[in-house]
Amino acid sequence: MSRKPFSIAIDGPAGAGKSSVARAVAAELNAMYLDTGAMYRAFGLHMLRKGATNDARAIVAALDDVNITVEFVDGAQHIFIGDEDVTEAIREPEVSMAASDVSAVPEVRERMVALQRKIAEGHDVIMDGRDIGTKVLPNATLKIFMTASAEERARRRCLELAQKGRPEPYDKVLQEMKDRDYQDTHRAASPLCAAEDAVTVDTSDMSFDETVAEIKRLALKAIGKC
Ligand code: DC
Repeated sequence: MSRKPFSIAIDGPAGAGKSSVARAVAAELNAMYLDTGAMYRAFGLHMLRKGATNDARAIVAALDDVNITVEFVDGAQHIFIGDEDVTEAIREPEVSMAASDVSAVPEVRERMVALQRKIAEGHDVIMDGRDIGTKVLPNATLKIFMTASAEERARRRCLELAQKGRPEPYDKVLQEMKDRDYQDTHRAASPLCAAEDAVTVDTSDMSFDETVAEIKRLALKAIGKC
């Protein structure tokens, strides 16, 4: 590559559409897409299996026993705990809060951030998460803060669960989403917040295609200035 690789950071609360939009824009721009939440989810799943998602000492100790790796199979991200492919298992609803719990531990964040930077190095990349613009890629070519009302995000999550044949009551999904948002925005280590230089995109009244088009437009404008 003769030019410098570009990097696009997409942060925001759960269910705002970050991962599906980031995946689609990455495919259009021929860039790598890295879902950083999957890494916290894998570690959260490991601690859930040990029954210790709120035990900071056990969490820090486990960091050295567990090998979390990311592989790309036909462009799709797969995540492993040791040799076990946990790409599907990390999507179980109970893993969401476990991921949020372990992600509040500073040592976990340090380990994951280092891994994320290493994976992305030398590639055109779109990364989504909670701290990409503020911490992982502070010099990103473009930073987006993607959000939507909690009610709309819960509505979308309910639809997704129903499509998977796993319907959940709306009120329960909404409450869990609010609890996780609260925890992610109030932790001491790299809390979820918009970077000062991020462009906020509120997707509450936008369709998926409109959101992809808007992010692509912002990306091409930013890349053109590189
Ligand atoms: O994006 P997600 O919902 O799959 O992420 C699961 C949890 O992981 C989220 O509630 C907080 C944590 N997380 C984080 O702290 N930093 C990131 N960059 C990505 C996720």
